Amino acid sequence: MTDKPVEHSHDFDGIVELDNDLPRWWLGIFWVTTIVAVFYVPYYHFMYPEKLPEAALLASQEARAEELAKIEAAKPKPVDEEADLLAKYNAGGWEEAAKADFTTFCVPCHAPDGGGTIGPNFTDDYYIHGGKLTDIRRIIVEGVPAKGMISWKVSLKPQQIENLTFYIRSLRGTTPATPKAAEGKLVDEAGNFTE
Ligand code: HEC
Repeated sequence: MTDKPVEHSHDFDGIVELDNDLPRWWLGIFWVTTIVAVFYVPYYHFMYPEKLPEAALLASQEARAEELAKIEAAKPKPVDEEADLLAKYNAGGWEEAAKADFTTFCVPCHAPDGGGTIGPNFTDDYYIHGGKLTDIRRIIVEGVPAKGMISWKVSLKPQQIENLTFYIRSLRGTTPATPKAAEGKLVDEAGNFTE
């Protein structure tokens, strides 16, 4: 194959350039790859733009971000008890049961209209232990035994305690017949102490 015509036209210092035909296998590979390239280049760049490295990277980054967002969403969120209670308070439906329990259990010390007798007045903006729903519920549950306020966690169900919490909150801003002088400290609208 290689020893066909020898070209002598390029000759320098006795070094002669040979012009042999390229081997067929080499030419074969050359043409096959050239033809494949003609089709492959447009195919690679234009047929599936989403498979190009940059797009593929972006897609995988997006997928990962989505995965992370899911993991983040699946984490237990801190419970905002005050907001939960407030939503139930605003939803209503507790009024009747609450009033009945208040009349049975709380009236002796807090008066029928919440104006207070032995226990403090629930109608003003002053609270001894805080005016948030969670504060009121905590005091009903735990009581203040040293001051004569009973702990109700044994004798009342959690639902009853929740209803009473709402009832006491609803008394705030009402006008009782014989209001007891304010006790405790001033609270803001949300029930947080102002000082
Ligand atoms: C035996 C009397 C008595 C009864 C019955 C009673 N309380 Fe009280 N309550 C008190 C006294 C006294 C206080 C004040 C405690 C203090 O000074 O820390 C009080 C305080 C409270 C407070 C806190 C008020 C504040 O200013 O922080 C809440 C809330 C409360 N009572 C709810 C109730 C509910 C609800 C019932 C009925 C299930 C009830 N109480 C029944 C005597 C009573």
